[in-house]
Amino acid sequence: MDFGFRCPVILCLTLAVLASVLADLDDTLMGAPGSSVRLSENDPGLKKALKFAEDRYNMGSNTMHVRRVSKILSASKQVDYTIMNTETEVCVFEVWDIPWERKSTLLKQKCQPAVDPKPVETNKVEFLSLSSSKPVEETEYLVELLGQFKEFMVRYNRTYSSKKDTERRLRIFHENLKTAEKLQSLDLGTAEYGVTKFSDLTEEEFRTLYLNPLLSQQTFQRSMKPAAMTHGPAPPSWDWREHGAVSPVKNQGMCGSCWAFSVTGNIEGQWFVKTGKLLSLSEQELVDCDTVDQACGGGLPSNAYEAIEKLGGLETETDYSYTGKKQSCDFTTDKVTAYINSSVELSKDENGDIYLSNPTCFSLVVCPQFYRKGVSHPLKIFCNPWMIDHAVLLVGYGERQGKPFWAIKNSWGEDYGEQGYYYLYRGSRLCGINKMCSSAIVN
Ligand SMILES: *[C@@H]1O[C@H](CO)[C@@H](O)[C@H](O)[C@H]1NC(C)=O
Ligand SMILES: *[C@@H]1O[C@H](CO)[C@@H](O)[C@H](O)[C@H]1NC(C)=O
Repeated sequence: MDFGFRCPVILCLTLAVLASVLADLDDTLMGAPGSSVRLSENDPGLKKALKFAEDRYNMGSNTMHVRRVSKILSASKQVDYTIMNTETEVCVFEVWDIPWERKSTLLKQKCQPAVDPKPVETNKVEFLSLSSSKPVEETEYLVELLGQFKEFMVRYNRTYSSKKDTERRLRIFHENLKTAEKLQSLDLGTAEYGVTKFSDLTEEEFRTLYLNPLLSQQTFQRSMKPAAMTHGPAPPSWDWREHGAVSPVKNQGMCGSCWAFSVTGNIEGQWFVKTGKLLSLSEQELVDCDTVDQACGGGLPSNAYEAIEKLGGLETETDYSYTGKKQSCDFTTDKVTAYINSSVELSKDENGDIYLSNPTCFSLVVCPQFYRKGVSHPLKIFCNPWMIDHAVLLVGYGERQGKPFWAIKNSWGEDYGEQGYYYLYRGSRLCGINKMCSSAIVN
């Protein structure tokens, strides 16, 4: 197994990338660490992407002459995109390269006449320098932005080390607000997006700190036994929280250990169903002692179940508390409080009945960075199943304001989403929800 391989799972939120594309063009906003990496014109990946974009451009245009890129204005690597000046037009292309499928997709092509020297620049705002010569509207906008940022800093207890750092975080905050607005305008459900505790992080920082790249590598997953279908027709709604099978929302901190939380959550539920007792089980044991998975670097539920079987069970949260970093394994058999006997994979149907046996461990494409509440129904393009990078716990389903939903327990603290929960539209296999569902079995 090659866990060194990291997929460029980059594009979950194309819009965030778009924002960085725009930011990248603006000299005043350029070069912040964590923004996209600039590419040299000789970069082989860029050349390939460029050729692809050119071909697609020519395929789609009605002119008799084939056009070639005359000048690359900017190129960066978050997404292989390129801007080309075709003498009369400046184009922004986003080419999505999927190396393991040997495939490229043209995500976006936007061309406009090259009259303005900075044709794709938007909303240029000079931060922290409110001069009275600015148009009233812009000043008002800035004042509001600064107000929101200040409120954010107070609410989430943020301090930054320097003025420079503060300005940088403000710029990110601003970009993120625009992304959230975009998501809001494109959401098909009832979700509200906006300022969250992650609003001062770039998408890249967010991914690095909180997500789990191993999950997208489903091919490395040990194949699991399919679950037996033991339930009759599912009721129209079900919520394991109402039945006492779900422990309080936990917080993984700045560690990509979502997989461990997803697995303990599942076993807590399974143990409750078997014994009637709700425990809070140790994620740290998995972070420290599961040698197949990669602690804060990510893991797979299938491996974790196996590790628990080998170890002999799980200690409680109290006995083996969470620290959010990998330490040496401090597990003792004496303190095992819950065990499992095997694990199964659940059917890929999105029917409620398969999740009725207990709260289910499953994986999906990221819970959105800027989600606040409501039933989220993102466009499929923002939630492509092969980009799965987060493991969570499915605890129920139902319908709210006519929107069928899955209730999803996250591990980002109670101050994420609705008291720590994320609600995702149910019924159109969004975000890979049906791709990697698994559960422990306690005999
Ligand atoms: C706020 O942050 C500071 C420094 O990061 C920390 O010392 C303090 O305990 C935090 N306060 C709260 C209420 O979280
Ligand atoms: C399940 O696992 C536990 C702990 O390893 C073991 O004591 C028990 O006998 C197992 N049950 C079955 C039915 O195999």
